[in-house]
Amino acid sequence: MTLLLDERRRAMLAEFGIALPPALAPEPPAGELTPAPAAEAVVSARVTVPAPASRPLPQPVAGVPGERPAGVQHMDWEALAKAVAGCRACKLCEGRRNTVFGVGDRHADWLVVGEAPGENEDLQGEPFVGAAGQLLDNMLRAVGLARGHKVYIANVLKCRPPGNRNPEPDEVAQCEPFLRRQVELLQPRVILAMGRFAVQSLLGSTEAIGRLRGQRHEYRGVPVVVTYHPAYLLRNLPDKAKAWADLCLAAEVAGQR
Ligand code: URA
Repeated sequence: MTLLLDERRRAMLAEFGIALPPALAPEPPAGELTPAPAAEAVVSARVTVPAPASRPLPQPVAGVPGERPAGVQHMDWEALAKAVAGCRACKLCEGRRNTVFGVGDRHADWLVVGEAPGENEDLQGEPFVGAAGQLLDNMLRAVGLARGHKVYIANVLKCRPPGNRNPEPDEVAQCEPFLRRQVELLQPRVILAMGRFAVQSLLGSTEAIGRLRGQRHEYRGVPVVVTYHPAYLLRNLPDKAKAWADLCLAAEVAGQR
């Protein structure tokens, strides 16, 4: 990936806490980038996207959990999206306003996997549209990707856990076939697993992210790179430099460097 360091890219790298000299220069290798002191790290204004006031909020769908969609392993994208939209396999179906299937390029080289929809995602039916999503978009732009361009974004869970609590094991287990099928259909060059629930679901590991990052793992034959969840990075600015190194590794694995 050969890129000129224009002001936009500089701002995006600043998002990671990476300071660069002012002159335009070819991008140095990842290892040579200098993390900026945390106090200087630029954090862009975070905007929470509210639902339009004039439109009534979708109401949770009534019904009892327990119906499991059959034949997920043979579904194409459309059938899979429909199965997720109608899924009632666990209790999360009772409180959701929308399922959050995933978004992006269905021929993408990258699959980014997060944890579960939050409030904004539940309202809009799209992953990572809140504060963490803005950081994710900036992270992706820094490696030449954009939502819908060369990257597909999905979560371990397709429904919002109430109050944004952690996913529970039975919920992860019920949702797992959907993510597995998304990986099979997409056949990405790399999966970026963000945060501990993505790591637990894809790698079956409860090791800390700090111990798993920096290496290439595998999920059903697809390379996996582990990194911190953007919501964690919003609270831990110094670790953005590590996330940048993780993205550089993922780009290398995807054959971009
Ligand atoms: N956090 C996630 O893990 N996924 C989302 O879609 C939003 C926030």
